[in-house]
Amino acid sequence: MTSLYEGVFGAPAEAEGRAPARANLLGEHTDYNDGFVLPTPLAYETAATIGRMKGAPDGIIEAHAAPFGETKRRSLGDPPQGDWMDYVVGCFRALGEAGYAVPAVSLAISSDVPMGAGISSSAALEVAVLRAARRLLDLPLDDVELARLGQKAENAYVGMQCGIMDQMAASLGQRGKALFLDTRTMATETVPLPESFRLAIIHCGKAHQLTAGDYNTRRRECEAACAALGIGSLRDLDTGDLERLERLEEPLGRRARHVVTENRRVLDGVAALKACDAGTFGRLMDESHRSQRDDYQVSIPEIDALADSAKRHGAIGARLTGGGFGGSIVALVPSGRYDGWRDAVLADRPDAREI
Ligand code: GLA
Repeated sequence: MTSLYEGVFGAPAEAEGRAPARANLLGEHTDYNDGFVLPTPLAYETAATIGRMKGAPDGIIEAHAAPFGETKRRSLGDPPQGDWMDYVVGCFRALGEAGYAVPAVSLAISSDVPMGAGISSSAALEVAVLRAARRLLDLPLDDVELARLGQKAENAYVGMQCGIMDQMAASLGQRGKALFLDTRTMATETVPLPESFRLAIIHCGKAHQLTAGDYNTRRRECEAACAALGIGSLRDLDTGDLERLERLEEPLGRRARHVVTENRRVLDGVAALKACDAGTFGRLMDESHRSQRDDYQVSIPEIDALADSAKRHGAIGARLTGGGFGGSIVALVPSGRYDGWRDAVLADRPDAREI
C-alpha cells in the first residue's frame, strides 16, 4: 500500500483511505432540493495514502497526485487555485473548521477514476482523503459526517455548490447495489440492482466541467422558484402541485417541474427495483432523461444522441448521469446482449467511449 507514497516521500505511509466513483441511476439535481437520489458505486476507485510530515508546521498539506504526475504543497490558509489540490486542502480545512487539529501531512493519491466523465472523481477523492485522515488521526467521524465534510470541501472551498449525493455514494455505497437516499432526513436504504441486466456507462466525448457555473445557476433557479412559491424547499411539493408550477415565470416553472417529477421517479424506481420490474425502471430512466433535457436543460446534443442510440440498440433505459453539460449516460442493457449493444452504440457515436 505504501509504494507510491514511499517513492515520493521516502518513508512508508501510516494510513490509507479508498473510495469509489458512482453512477446515478435516478434522481438528478434533486439532492440540493432536499430530494431523493439513487446512485450506485462503480468499480473505479481513488486511493489516498497519508503520513505525518516531520519538521513542518501544523496545517501544511503536501500531496502527490499520480494521475497528474504532480506534487503540491499548500497551507490551510491558502486560497483555492482551481486545481485538484483544492479538493485535498478543502477536506483538511473542513476538518479544521469542525474542530479537529490538522497536523502537517503528506499524501499520495492514485486513481483509475476517469475525470470529466460525470461519475464524480471529485467525491471519490474527497472521501478517500478523509478516510485516510480519519484513520491517521483516529477521528470519531461516522460515514455520514465524513460525507458532509467532503461536501463542505466543495461548497466552501472549491466553490461548487454541490449536494450530498456523490459523497454519500462514495462513503456509504455498496458495489452492485443502489443506495436510496433521502437527502432531507439522510435516511438510506440499500436496494438490489435488476438481475440479468448490466449497467453501462458511456461517455459522450465532451467532458463534464468541474465547477461549471451552470450548475450553480440551476441551484439559484431552484431557490428563486421556492421564493416565488413561498416554500422552503422543492421537496415540499408533490406531483399533485404541478399545476401551481405553471404560474411560475420561466425557466423557474420547468426547473421546479423537473425536481418534483424526478423525486417521484426515484420513489417509483425504488418500488420497481424491489418488485424486480426492470421494464418500469428503464421507462423511468428514459423519462428522467427527457426531463433533464427539456425541463432542467442540463443535457447537450451529444448526450441526447447517445441516449437515443443506446435505446435504439436495445437498452431498456438510458439517461444522462451526474451534473450534466457533458459527461456520460447510464444505460440498463440485457446482460447477454451487452457486447453487441456496446459495439453498435460506439459505431453510431464515434466520439463516445465505454467507461
Ligand atoms: C453533481 C453534484 C451532485 C448532484 C449531481 C446532479 O454530481 O455533485 O451533488 O447535484 O451533480 O444530480
